[in-house]
Amino acid sequence: MQRRHFVRNALAGAVSAAAVASVPGTAQAASDMGLTNIVFTEDDPGHFAKVAKLHVPEVHVEGGMLKVHTPHPMSEAHYIVSHTVVLEGGKFLSRTTFNWKDKPTSEHKLPEGYKGKVMVTSTCNLHDWWLKEVSV
Ligand SMILES: [Fe+2]
Repeated sequence: MQRRHFVRNALAGAVSAAAVASVPGTAQAASDMGLTNIVFTEDDPGHFAKVAKLHVPEVHVEGGMLKVHTPHPMSEAHYIVSHTVVLEGGKFLSRTTFNWKDKPTSEHKLPEGYKGKVMVTSTCNLHDWWLKEVSV
C-alpha cells in the first residue's frame, strides 16, 4: 500500500473514531479503539513518543478563529504536510496544506456561534497523523 493511501485511509478511520469519541458519554482514547500507532495523540503517542512534543498541534481560539500551530521544524526532507479541522459529528471544516518552506501555522473560521468539540490534525511526512481535540 502506498504511504499516501495508508495515510488517507488512516485519516478516514481516525475521523470516524474521533466523531464517535466526541459523542457525550462515549469518549474513548485512541488506544481503547485499537488505533495506537495509527492515530497519534499527546496521551497515546505510540512508537513516536520521543517526538510527540513536535507534532501535537497547538490550538487556540480567538474571535471565532481557530489558530493552529505545530511546533515542528520545516525542512525539505521532513515537514508538516497539513492541518485539518473537523467539527463535532464529523463535519469537515477546512484543511490547509504546507510545503517545507512554509510555517506550519493555519487559521480556520469557525461557524458563527459554534459551540462544541473540534478535532484538529497535523500530518508529518515522516511521523504520520496527530490528533488534538478541543472544546470551544
Ligand atoms: Fe516529524
